[in-house]
Order: sequence, then structure tokens, then C-alpha cells
Amino acid sequence: MTDQNAAPAGIDTSVAHSARMYDYWLGGSSNFEADRELGKAFETAIPSIRTMARENRRFLGRAIRQMAGEGGIRQFLDIGTGVPAAGDTHSVTEIVAPDSRVVCVDNDPIVQAHAKALMEKSPEGRTVYVQADLRKPGELLAHPEVAGHLDFERPVGLLLVAVLMLLKDQDRPWATVAALLDAMPPGSQVAITHPTQDFNPEAMSEVVEAAARGQMTLVPRTRAQVSEFFGDWELLEPGVVPVMGWRPEEPPADPRAAYYWGGVARKKG
Ligand SMILES: C[S@@+](CC[C@H](N)C(=O)[O-])C[C@H]1O[C@@H](n2cnc3c(N)ncnc32)[C@H](O)[C@@H]1O
Repeated sequence: MTDQNAAPAGIDTSVAHSARMYDYWLGGSSNFEADRELGKAFETAIPSIRTMARENRRFLGRAIRQMAGEGGIRQFLDIGTGVPAAGDTHSVTEIVAPDSRVVCVDNDPIVQAHAKALMEKSPEGRTVYVQADLRKPGELLAHPEVAGHLDFERPVGLLLVAVLMLLKDQDRPWATVAALLDAMPPGSQVAITHPTQDFNPEAMSEVVEAAARGQMTLVPRTRAQVSEFFGDWELLEPGVVPVMGWRPEEPPADPRAAYYWGGVARKKG
């Protein structure tokens, strides 16, 4: 695990951050004391939190395979990408569609620091990492590295996996997602996962309280609220379902063991 002295420049390690907590649950080393403390508090409320992080990554892999396979998509925009690690968008596309162009966006500078190291090892330039804020979709899409790397005349696979819960209602998350969806050409697909109180309200409220104590926003949303993110795009089978039940390789014993809704939809036309 990383210690305070090893923090890349410009990173405030005294407050927990979701990218680093997620990294902690996935067994990574890009996390600090504050991230581990809040990570453990979440784990006390939801002992299966590590499984949930892994299940999100597995969903991400299945969604990308669907987009690249049936969807024929060769460009991906992953917003809230997290610290580069096994099973992420860069590594999955490298296997299933190595001719893809990938833009990974995150607002945590630690993601940039790790991505820079990764890209030095993998100089082919098919993946770029961009520091930008989901809450400003216009600026994000106009960012020179986003606009320069992706061709918005051809279908895009948009990934919003385990990120929208970090936007408060006041941040207008539905308008934000609608702005992104509007910018995508027909044939594009979007994959969304979102934590919910629908499966285990008590455990999820404990997590929300722990997040607030750690100065972190975490807004669980209902199935209806999550479904609204997809707008008028056509939901692919099986629709908005528990994330473990979205086209699983093996049917899970209890698909509601990860308290997340997930779905993939396609822009018609
Ligand atoms: C829980 S992690 C999810 C990582 C990855 N999508 C996955 O599911 O494996 C959420 C990520 O969203 C990023 N994030 C949070 N708020 C953001 C914002 N406003 N704009 C861009 N990224 C954001 C965090 O830094 C973090 O890396």
C-alpha cells in the first residue's frame, strides 16, 4: 500500500477519495490511510463491498464485450475510469478489440499519475487518459484529447460505471447524462451501474452515513431513477437489473448480493 510520503504531487491524501477506496477494495496499492479508513467503514456496513467492486468490474467487461461484439463499436469513452488495474477498460479492449480507440476520464489526479506510468510502458497511443469533470459534460466532450481521439460521427461505447452516485441531485446528474447521450451518434451504446438502497436499505444507509462522515458524496438511487438515465435509448436485454444478473457468464446464486443496478442501452436511428 502507498504511504503518505509517496503521494504524487498535488494529491490531498488526508481526505478519502472514491478512486483510491475502490483501488483498496480491489486489492490495489494506490490508496492512503484516509481511503483505507473509510473503505473499512463501508466494509463494516456492507461486508461484501469488495465483491461489489469486483462485480462492477466484471459487468464493465461484459458490457464492453457486448459493445465491441454485437455492437461493432471501436471507440470507448469511460468516465470515472478509476485507477488503472486488471479488468479495466484499457485492458479489456486490448483483448477483445485491440483496434479500438479509448478515452479514460477521471477527476482524481492520482488516476493521471498512474496512467502516465502505464502509458510510458504501452506507447501505442490507442488509449488516452484525460483529467476532466463529469459534472461539466460540455467541457469534457470539447476537451482537445477527447475530441481529438474520438470521432463523434461513428458509434461510441459510453461507460458510466459506478460513478453517477458521486453526483448529488443538485449536480443535475440526469441533465449531465442527457447532454452526453445527445452528443453520441446513432448506434452508440451506454453502460451504467449505480448503487441502490432497493436491496438492503439498512446497510446502504449506514454506508451513506459513513461517506458523509468522510466528506464524500454517495447517493444511492432507485431502479426508476437509474432507468431514467437511459432516456429514450433502447435498453438491451435484460434491461435494468441487479448488476450480477446482467448477462452473467454463470447464473449467480444471489444476483442481489451486489447492491447495484446495471444496464446497457443503444441509441436508435
Ligand atoms: C468507484 S470508482 C469506479 C471505477 C470504474 N468505473 C469501475 O467501475 O471499475 C469512481 C471513479 O469516478 C471518479 N469520479 C468521481 N467523481 C467524478 C467526476 N465528477 N468526474 C470524473 N470522474 C469522477 C473517481 O475519481 C473514481 O475513480
